[in-house]
Amino acid sequence: MSKVLAHSLAIQRQLVLYLADGEICSGEWLGQQLGISRAAIAKHLVQLEGYGLDLYKIKGKGYRLAEPLQLLDAALIKQQQQWNAPVWVQSVTDSTNNQLLQKLSDGQSLDAGTVLVAEAQTAGRGRRGKNWISPFGANLYFSMYWPLEQGIQAAMGLSLVIGVAVAKTLEQLFQLPVQLKWPNDIYLDGKKLGGILVELAGQSHSQCDAVIGLGLNISMPSVSAAQIDQPFTSLHSVLEQRPDRNQLVVALQKQLVSQLLFFADTGFAPFAAEFSRRDLFAGQWVQLSSAKQQVQGLCCGVDERGALLLESDGQRQSHYGGELSLRRIEHAPAD
Ligand code: BTN
Repeated sequence: MSKVLAHSLAIQRQLVLYLADGEICSGEWLGQQLGISRAAIAKHLVQLEGYGLDLYKIKGKGYRLAEPLQLLDAALIKQQQQWNAPVWVQSVTDSTNNQLLQKLSDGQSLDAGTVLVAEAQTAGRGRRGKNWISPFGANLYFSMYWPLEQGIQAAMGLSLVIGVAVAKTLEQLFQLPVQLKWPNDIYLDGKKLGGILVELAGQSHSQCDAVIGLGLNISMPSVSAAQIDQPFTSLHSVLEQRPDRNQLVVALQKQLVSQLLFFADTGFAPFAAEFSRRDLFAGQWVQLSSAKQQVQGLCCGVDERGALLLESDGQRQSHYGGELSLRRIEHAPAD
């Protein structure tokens, strides 16, 4: 990153800190605090709006955020951390997954459980080539590095294990009835709360590296909400209080590492029941689609390898990952 860009991002972070409580601040006052002109303040705020920050300009008075927000704080996270691997906090980045993948391809050696989070992503990626809308300071954009010592075959079931770990974290912190949609979506009240994107690097039979990306909706601004093409929910909309994002990062790192260590020892089998009891579609008729075909059946959870179990015509079949999409259908297929 160029020095100019880094300087700009540092000023913008400071600006958001002044506005974070949701009170109005005048351009003049902000300028005095930062030692820059009102015009420069206005320019930085336009850029922040471009990163999805939900900001009001109040004529003759100044600026205020649509909602108060809490910034990610590397020092606070470090104080509370319970796993000894770095948590890097970035302001604006293309994609937190990209950042970790880039470090791996540059030959940087990373500790297992290293986390990179950002306030905003300009090229956040979802599954099946979709964008992941990532407005500034609103949600959680979280990536973790994890080595798979047993090679690529250990990747089978990985995103399901992560789903179970995320569900456990949210259940413990907020007592929420989290559900999981095979293979990698986090649901609450029948709406999407988050998604997981696992990307692999350095694939070989002996060892491979996984970058585990998690996007979790905390408080979606209305401008960004309008760009999302499916029903979704956020933690803030179901909890009375705005969740503490720093605490969430600490809890997620700890829970993910603990479940991944267990997974490395045991494989997926002990997670099958954990996944199936949170399965959004358990006992319902679903359609599984890939580029080549569509299969309908009764959803019967997952098998001991993490494959989706669908029953039709009295027969159960396992369906493995890849570019599949799953949705509920209203009725059993006609005979
Ligand atoms: C999906 O449901 O399609 C998966 C979404 C994954 C989004 C996260 S946000 C953090 C990480 N960085 C990315 O670019 N994508 C993942």
